[in-house]
Amino acid sequence: MRNYYIAGNWKMHKTRSEAAELAKTLVAQLKDGKHKYLVAPTFTSLETVGAIVKESNVLLGAQNMAAEEQGAHTGEVSVLQLKDLGVQVVILGHSERRHVYKENDALINKKVNLALKHGLEVILCIGELLEEREAGKAEQVCETQTVKGLAGVSAADLARVTIAYEPVWAIGTGKTATPEDADAIHAYVRKVIGKLYGADASAQIIIQYGGSVKPDNAAQLMAKENIDGALVGGAALKADTFVPIAKFS
Ligand code: PGA
Repeated sequence: MRNYYIAGNWKMHKTRSEAAELAKTLVAQLKDGKHKYLVAPTFTSLETVGAIVKESNVLLGAQNMAAEEQGAHTGEVSVLQLKDLGVQVVILGHSERRHVYKENDALINKKVNLALKHGLEVILCIGELLEEREAGKAEQVCETQTVKGLAGVSAADLARVTIAYEPVWAIGTGKTATPEDADAIHAYVRKVIGKLYGADASAQIIIQYGGSVKPDNAAQLMAKENIDGALVGGAALKADTFVPIAKFS
């Protein structure tokens, strides 16, 4: 039985005091929540939010990290620095990283392996562009991003990997994939994991959906067999919208 996993990606929003306020509300309102929870504030708020979610059932996540441990990498943040702040999870391969900041599968894969080597959990984001979907290539794109993103990851380490399927055309656009369309890709990715790691891993891996998840569509998405949670952007910025998603039933 897979546990639902609801994650909030706060992207480049909120000052430390705004982040602290939201984190405090979430800790209070989610303390009786039944699912696995994560918040991923911007780097500058990690320490502040980390102090608030410590000892709660909300994990602390970062939105990205460097592919190297340390060195001359101006503007980057290292896995060692994230661990030092108590970060437990890192989101890698988000579509904004892939498409705006031009991260490719090889770079993302390097980050995945580095994060796992240092004991972090990883949320590996995958997803197709609108033109790829319209060309009938959604499955192929998601397969390639999954296979290349996980290159070199052992079966044991895969237990610390969550996949987030986020069709790029659904992110921040208000357009959500239908539960059926999302589930079809999730089922396909689960098969890809099966080919790579076997039936047990395929049955156990958590696959989140992301892309305009809101309180009024969360339950329908989660009801699908292969959808095990959500990676939430816009609706994660307010407790009023994140908590109902996190406590969907
Ligand atoms: P959205 O973002 O919920 O605002 O569509 C999701 C994401 O980018 O993770």
